[in-house]
Amino acid sequence: MNKVHELLASFKSRFGTGASFYRAPGRVNLIGEHTDYNDGYVLPAAIGFSCWVGIAPRDDRKLILFSENYSELREVGLDELGVHGSGHWADYPLGVAWALQEAGYRLRGANIYIAGEVPLGAGLSSSAAIEVSAGYALLSAANHTIDRTKLALLCQRAENEYVGARVGIMDQFVSCHGQAGHALLIDCRSLEYRTLRLPAKVSLVICNTMVKHKLQAGEYNVRRAECEEAVRKLSAAFPTIRSLRDVSLEQLAQDQSLLSETLYRRCRHVISENGRVRKVADLFEQGKTEKLRELMAASHQSLRDDYEVSCRELDAMVEIAGRQRGVYGARMTGGGFGGCTINFVDVEHATEFQRSVAAEYESAIGPRPDIYICDASQGAELVEASDESLPRVSR
Ligand code: GLA
Repeated sequence: MNKVHELLASFKSRFGTGASFYRAPGRVNLIGEHTDYNDGYVLPAAIGFSCWVGIAPRDDRKLILFSENYSELREVGLDELGVHGSGHWADYPLGVAWALQEAGYRLRGANIYIAGEVPLGAGLSSSAAIEVSAGYALLSAANHTIDRTKLALLCQRAENEYVGARVGIMDQFVSCHGQAGHALLIDCRSLEYRTLRLPAKVSLVICNTMVKHKLQAGEYNVRRAECEEAVRKLSAAFPTIRSLRDVSLEQLAQDQSLLSETLYRRCRHVISENGRVRKVADLFEQGKTEKLRELMAASHQSLRDDYEVSCRELDAMVEIAGRQRGVYGARMTGGGFGGCTINFVDVEHATEFQRSVAAEYESAIGPRPDIYICDASQGAELVEASDESLPRVSR
């Protein structure tokens, strides 16, 4: 049985009908960390792990949600969503329902089956995957269509306001717009993007430190607030700046006295990271791998020392990766404080890399790490059920 068959069978045994299934992927960010909420540049790719959401409309206004991961059922009325979540897994789909209704999309009650395969708390954006797949499903069940960028923005709003994590737009955007075999260079101010083919000899290898991160834990929101404070202070010298995107390293050095030492380092990370994203994008455009190593190392160092979002396990994983054969670059990826590293590895060395990094990390740090050799994948989609014998719900 393929994945959709299995999911349809599970849906039917739980809810007694057929369903339409939607899929949205997690992501790995190649470079451009903590730049999205500063109107900067990012270079993520959608990955082969997705969240799958099956939906069948109901005649009342109830959402009945079942999570396969938590083996738990939740029932909430569409008119009783409130304005904040409660720290529960259902906050993500319910937050999206809330954001969609706030934006004027009238939704229908529905039975919903959620199966997430993006590792949770690994910094691979299981949250964007559930938001986007749920959003797509809820809209389709109520016969709405939506532009992908608008869906990404509403999912971001759900996470910012309903869930309470003040994330940028990167994860939801790439989960909506991802393209197989490509990374996306996104300008997070204009939301324009370009697809960039990954150099043919490069494999994307993701190494999971097995240390769970939790964005709601607060440090992420603290970093974001620090950037906003720095912009307010720097505006005294440059009244036209709207975000750190508008500040150069030269201007920052010139007006260092306006900032505390910590704020200065936060800004130096964001501004220098934007420069590195452009450089890596140029290299990809030319199909080159020279200099990737230095740029990835500089990004990791800057996140570790200036932005202070790395941890001992991430540093160890990057250091171990750097010693392997066929590595074009390694750094932490995502929000930080645990989670994963992203490694560019020569295709021919990827399996050997996977084996030796796992062994070295386990003996140095403790847990056996999960290491995934990934392909850049396609963004959100309706997954056609191939089993015609199951009744389809009319929509
Ligand atoms: C998390 C957020 C993103 C981005 C990254 C850091 O993944 O969801 O918006 O800020 O952290 O680059």
